[in-house]
Amino acid sequence: MSDVQTITHSKSGASFRIHRFGATVLSYKSPDGRENLFVSRDAKLDGSKAIRGGIPLVFPIFGPPKEGSGSTMPQHGFARNNVWTVKPGSAHDEDSHAGVALTLDLTDTKAGRGENNPWSESQAKTDGTGCRLTLDVKVDATSLTTNLVVENTGTDGFDFNMLQHTYLAVDGRAAEDKDQCHVHGLGGYSIIDKVDSSKSGATQSYDEDVTISGMVDKVHIHPEGHNTLKVKVGVGGGKAVRLEAYGEVADSPVPVSCVVWNPGKDAATKMGDFGDDQYQDMICVEPGLLGHEPVLPPGKEARLTQIIFSS
Ligand code: BG6
Repeated sequence: MSDVQTITHSKSGASFRIHRFGATVLSYKSPDGRENLFVSRDAKLDGSKAIRGGIPLVFPIFGPPKEGSGSTMPQHGFARNNVWTVKPGSAHDEDSHAGVALTLDLTDTKAGRGENNPWSESQAKTDGTGCRLTLDVKVDATSLTTNLVVENTGTDGFDFNMLQHTYLAVDGRAAEDKDQCHVHGLGGYSIIDKVDSSKSGATQSYDEDVTISGMVDKVHIHPEGHNTLKVKVGVGGGKAVRLEAYGEVADSPVPVSCVVWNPGKDAATKMGDFGDDQYQDMICVEPGLLGHEPVLPPGKEARLTQIIFSS
């Protein structure tokens, strides 16, 4: 089976492309032919590192391992660094939508688990850690839905973070143009600013959108009692897409937080898999179960569903 599969919704002409490495969605085209996702022209597609663009999946950790934990798991975990399996018979193209599903079992992973953590090869068996990940992707005339499910197949509970690290394409090189590129809908979310820690702890104002100027790396933690994430993202050319996300752990809804990231010019030039000038062409809007570490009991499932509405 080829590593990259294109699924087209014949009825509308919308389509997506997915790579088995990391179950990374690489492309989502609306019926008008617009590409909604950004992939770096220097992205590695040979499995040598996580794909720089599309929708990489972040699990079970967000960022580097906890300081002092001794864990050597790579940043953002192992989901994006392994070859997933296409679920036999899952590809379909119906009147209402088209889609496919991929899975990854912890026991089939080859990379990214590191040492000194419950997921590592040396500890997982004795610690009773096990999981199966499933990504269900569906496209229809107006939207792309990516539903990531984690099932605890082990005998012990585990805590985790999970995100969809969505790289949205920005037209007209407009990422730093505040009128054209902005994230609306994060008012009331509290901010962890990973670039300027003195700005952490602030609450995002309802009157202002989140915009890009130089490197931006902000985690927006959901307000109390606010589960669903709903944002509107200006993506250049006067266009906006809507992005929604929902979370569930062990049959109960959980709140979804949201990272906004752009490397800016200086960091872009230092990244081997990112075109020097391409910081102008993208904005990452990353819904995730963050800001708390839910515990998933054995036999239970956690899910994070993202829907990008392109029109
Ligand atoms: C974001 C993080 O989610 O991903 C940033 O908040 C990080 O800190 C960015 O730089 C890209 O990470 P990576 O591992 O794909 O280079």
